[in-house]
Amino acid sequence: MALQEVEQIVLRDMTGEDIHAAAELSFEQQWPHREEDWTLFLSLGEGIVAEMDGKVVGTIMGWRFGENFATLGMVIVTNAVQGRGVGRQLMDAMLKRLEGRTVLLNATAEGLPLYRKLGFVELGTVCQHQASAPVVPLVELRPGERVRPMGAADGEALEELYAQATGMDRKALLDALLPDSSAVVLCREHEQTGFALLRRFGRGWAIAPVIAPDLGGAKALITHWLGTQTGSFCRIDIAEESGLGNWLADLGLPEVGRVTRMALGPAPVPGDAAATFALAAQALG
Ligand SMILES: CC(C)(COP(=O)(O)OP(=O)(O)OC[C@H]1O[C@@H](n2cnc3c(N)ncnc32)[C@H](O)[C@@H]1OP(=O)(O)O)[C@@H](O)C(=O)NCCC(=O)NCCS
Repeated sequence: MALQEVEQIVLRDMTGEDIHAAAELSFEQQWPHREEDWTLFLSLGEGIVAEMDGKVVGTIMGWRFGENFATLGMVIVTNAVQGRGVGRQLMDAMLKRLEGRTVLLNATAEGLPLYRKLGFVELGTVCQHQASAPVVPLVELRPGERVRPMGAADGEALEELYAQATGMDRKALLDALLPDSSAVVLCREHEQTGFALLRRFGRGWAIAPVIAPDLGGAKALITHWLGTQTGSFCRIDIAEESGLGNWLADLGLPEVGRVTRMALGPAPVPGDAAATFALAAQALG
């Protein structure tokens, strides 16, 4: 690593004025994030940019959840500057800010070596499924079960389900996602047992997150949103162990990529009431 090159790098806080440059970096990687997606991420957390000769050449973002956890993501170094230590500097700077918390991330194959060197351990796999939404057959609901639009009185129950599913305080995230999302709730005997949001993301729509008590509940929620989006580009990032992969592929939503879920520090412990079948975003977990 040439010392001179590293010295030219300046790290500073990301602001709203960096969004355009940041989105150009993600386009270069052929990631689908629009400026609106970056703006949402920044509103929820914090970012650092790496500048070289006054030009943004790298980014990283972090989000805190409650007192003990954080996720990080949008780790990008422009192709021309990769392999010169910028990614490492960005990670060191963000990890310093998040010190004292378990940090979670979803690693691309390119990011894995860096994260392993920093001590992150692998927890599992997230599978990205996407396509133009097919016509989906209705899922048969159990007696007493229904999927209905979220109402004003559902907020607290959904926060609790999200906390159970992730082992983290996700209230701020839910509050930030809801204004730009449509939400449905899975009820069993009138009790809220799961929910799924639909929002614009990248090239189309994301069904994100899907929080459900079991596989049947998750399928009911996903079927609801796919049914409303027939013909539109839809994406869903599922936990590999969710059991949804083959079902989605058979429906016409194939897997197009995988990332590795990793943690630095003790992983959060979810409760029994609900599980995360699909993520809010790869960056947010
Ligand atoms: C991942 C990425 C951010 C790394 O940034 P970078 O500036 O190229 O990385 P660095 O030069 O700081 O290298 C980081 C470390 O990983 C090591 N490394 C990188 N590639 C490696 C490989 N294939 N095998 C082993 N080690 C590797 C480097 O040796 C370095 O270790 P060191 O700090 O001990 O010397 C960059 O490659 C990138 O933007 N990729 C595309 C977007 C992406 O996939 N981002 C990750 C999202 S999770």
